Order: sequence, then C-alpha cells, then structure tokens
Amino acid sequence: MKKAIVIGASSGIGLEVAQLLKGEGWTVGVAARRVERLSDFEFAACIDVNAEDAGVQLLSLIDRVGGMDLYFHASGIGHQNRMLHEDIELQTVTTNGLGFTRMVGTAFRYMADHGGGHIAVISSIAGTKGLGPAPSYSATKAFQNTYIQSLEQLANARHLDIRFTDIRPGFVATDLLNDGNHYPLLLDKTAVARDIVCSIRKRRHVRVVDWRWRIITAFWRRIPRFVWRRLPL
Ligand SMILES: NC(=O)c1ccc[n+]([C@@H]2O[C@H](COP(=O)([O-])OP(=O)(O)OC[C@H]3O[C@@H](n4cnc5c(N)ncnc54)[C@H](OP(=O)(O)O)[C@@H]3O)[C@@H](O)[C@H]2O)c1
Repeated sequence: MKKAIVIGASSGIGLEVAQLLKGEGWTVGVAARRVERLSDFEFAACIDVNAEDAGVQLLSLIDRVGGMDLYFHASGIGHQNRMLHEDIELQTVTTNGLGFTRMVGTAFRYMADHGGGHIAVISSIAGTKGLGPAPSYSATKAFQNTYIQSLEQLANARHLDIRFTDIRPGFVATDLLNDGNHYPLLLDKTAVARDIVCSIRKRRHVRVVDWRWRIITAFWRRIPRFVWRRLPL
C-alpha cells in the first residue's frame, strides 16, 4: 500500500486530494493547523509550516504512517493586497516562502535518505507573471515554481530517484478566494483534485489546470513587458 503525506489538508484542494488518495487505497497522513478538521483520517497532525520545528513534526508524522512515497504540499495563503499592507505581504512570504521551503526541504532530505519518492506541490498560475493586485502571492508562487525546478535538477545531479510535480491551477472555488471579489473561469475543487491525482500518476513535471488556463498562461507569457506593466488588472 502506498503512503502519502498531505500538508494543508484541512480545507480546499488539499482536503480533496487527501480524500481522493484515501479512496484509491493510499495510506494518508494529513496535517494543518486546524487539526479538528482532519478527523476523517487515521494519521493526522497539527502542523504550522511556519513553526521552527515543523520539519521535525513532519518526520514524526511520516514515522507514524510508516514511510512516505508521496509528499503533497497544499499549504498556502493568498490575498489581494492593492494597498500593500505590510502584515499581509510578510505573512504571505513567510508561509508560501519560508514555510514551503522548510517542508519541501524536509521531504526532499527524507526521500534522499530513503530511496526516493514523489514531491508534488500546488503553486499557481499566479507565479507565471507579476500580478499587481497580489504582489507577495504572485512572487512567492514564482519562487515555488523555480524552487521545484531547482530541486529537480539537484535530484538528477545527485542521482536521486525523486520525482516532482508542480501544479499550477487557475482560480479555484475555495476559502482562499472567499473574499467578495469576482474571479473569472472559476474551477471546481473536486475536478482540480482529480486532475492533480492524475497528473501525479502520470508523473507530469508541470501541470497548469485547466485547459483554458493553459491557453491563457501560454498567451500572457508572450505579452511584452512594456505592455504587461501597464495592464490595469
Ligand atoms: N483557490 C485558488 O484559486 C488557488 C489557485 C491556485 C493555487 N492555489 C493554491 O492552492 C493551495 C491550497 O489553497 P486552497 O485554494 O485549497 O485554499 P484553502 O482552502 O484556504 O486551503 C489552504 C490550506 O493551507 C493550510 N495552511 C495555511 N497556512 C498554513 C500554515 N501556516 N501551516 C499549515 N497549513 C497552513 C490551511 O490549513 P490551516 O488553516 O488549518 O492551517 C488549508 O488546509 C495554496 O497554496 C494556494 O495558493 C489556490
């Protein structure tokens, strides 16, 4: 039986992915800060990715589950912040930057020492261009994209059997977007989770979800910088 750890499984896409994996017969260990939401799972832990000992707590969860074939990182926060409030910017950098690095790094070192595995993370289409309404969110998602690409090269150079999947969804109807703003082409979280599990199975390296967002991101990558910086998003 395969073993997966899902961090950020208390709501949204992470919860959907954890439930799908469980339904497919995986042994699943889950974590988040709102541990009371994880009662459907046999192996659950209260982990704040921003806590200094979060890596140690992850290793202890892996121990309880009995190993880790798949590490899935769904933890993240995001806000529109047009007034550039400092607390929002710094908290986003902390969770999506430092917390992400702490947890993915722990998973990488564990897999390096235990014969390999698969690391999959949810970044976002927001990392593919700088987005004015959400600067720290967009920048930390670009960081995640580059970090996973770097780890993939590092794993190859060290001849480690670690595979990587960088999931980049468009807008998904979850609590993260529950802020009263209108978001176009909103995706259903269950459909996104299905696509994610399929992408992991197919060992995709990068997956933009869904096809409409693949077209949009392919198009906006080609927009010249002097046009992009004037777009009134
Ligand atoms: N919704 C979208 O449109 C969209 C699009 C692209 C990418 N994404 C990305 O998808 C990921 C999941 O987001 P979602 O849309 O499913 O939103 P969500 O429902 O708000 O889920 C966020 C998850 O992250 C966890 N989390 C947040 N801060 C944490 C911390 N400090 N330590 C541990 N866990 C933490 C939350 O758990 P606790 O609060 O219980 O700790 C929760 O389980 C995020 O990385 C997000 O950036 C979302």
